Amino acid sequence: MPETLRARPEKHQPWLDASLRPYIHIDAVTKQFGEFRAVDRTTLEIHRGELFCLLGASGCGKTTLLRMLAGFEHPTSGRILIDGQDMTGVPAYDRPVNMMFQNYALFPHMSVEQNVAYGLKQDGVRKPELKQRVGEALEMVQLGPWAKRKPHQLSGGQRQRVALARSLVKRPKVLLLDEPLAALDKKLRERTQFELMNIQEELGVTFVVVTHDQEEAMTLSTRMAVMERGQVVQVGTPSEIYEFPATRFTADFIGSINLIEGRVKRVEAAGVLVAAPQLGCDLEVTGATQVREGQSVCVAIRPEKIAVAPNAEGAGPEEGAPNAVRGGARNSVRGTVRDVAYLGDSSVFRVDVGEGFLIEVTQPNLLRSLERKVDWDDAVVLTWRADAGLILTE
Ligand SMILES: Nc1ncnc2c1ncn2[C@@H]1O[C@H](COP(=O)(O)OP(=O)(O)O)[C@@H](O)[C@H]1O
Ligand SMILES: [Mg+2]
Repeated sequence: MPETLRARPEKHQPWLDASLRPYIHIDAVTKQFGEFRAVDRTTLEIHRGELFCLLGASGCGKTTLLRMLAGFEHPTSGRILIDGQDMTGVPAYDRPVNMMFQNYALFPHMSVEQNVAYGLKQDGVRKPELKQRVGEALEMVQLGPWAKRKPHQLSGGQRQRVALARSLVKRPKVLLLDEPLAALDKKLRERTQFELMNIQEELGVTFVVVTHDQEEAMTLSTRMAVMERGQVVQVGTPSEIYEFPATRFTADFIGSINLIEGRVKRVEAAGVLVAAPQLGCDLEVTGATQVREGQSVCVAIRPEKIAVAPNAEGAGPEEGAPNAVRGGARNSVRGTVRDVAYLGDSSVFRVDVGEGFLIEVTQPNLLRSLERKVDWDDAVVLTWRADAGLILTE
């Protein structure tokens, strides 16, 4: 990881402090349902005060892992430690965790207040304290005025906040949230993401959030674990995962990316030169990589790191002709615009760089204009810096 991506020292990044013991330690945990392995030898360390996201496609084992933290499921092998204590054999109600369920599971016949109070009543918390704690929890999620309403009289966002209040009122050390925002529409989801982050920061409670939504994980998390088929494939901060995906899977899963197959032509002092037949030009990639000459690699370049400009020379690539810009410049290729998507804040171009191989380019719409400098069927030149690309070997 380059130094420049390291955190500012004042930022809360306990995982960089080797003297700190992780608060949650998932140690080689496997969960088998019959023949099927839902979680496969997963190891994770989560620190106190983190907002840690488990991100992955549906069915990859996120909920199962969360349920094992909660104590609703038990590992087939491996163990879970919380605050140094082995949770094997510790029942759900004795763990310092609380879980907020995917569907909120509110009691329909109870008011907001009663829903929030329910768990405390079960624990035998007495009237004055009960009232105070419920009041505080409702205050925190800004539901005070709706205390007497029933769940069906609330919006989706308000129901989500009742569920959150009901979890927080028990003052867990760790709050587990399974797809907490999945039921909300896009605008509300974005707003609620910020609310969740504020509440988490204010309370300093450790949050473990399951989501299949990569934007949500990027927005919310201090760090995230990307999961695939029961395994953790990468752990990192949002910017580490986005800028330095370790594998094609992670690169492709998070955001858009161009994956270009090639072969290492030369290893130079500043970086690596990769021959890429699909582009017809050589790619220069700087940054640390452990590759040798002749090795097959994949160069990954994010669409926003590529510049697109009209091709002053006129013609796009001809059938079978090399489409490298004259002079054999590196990281520069000619093509023809096949698709333009105007998104308001940005535009996405799909550029055919030869034989139908498409490169995606995203450009911010900096100028207010109804005319485009680059349009359908235009001949263009794509360029990018040597540090824009990343070499992937897995
Ligand atoms: N109790 C169970 N019995 C059998 N299979 C299960 C059980 N719970 C989950 N699974 C399977 O384990 C896999 C992972 O499920 P889950 O953890 O719910 O995934 P996610 O939350 O990532 O969508 C799925 O294929 C699911 O069908
Ligand atoms: Mg799930």
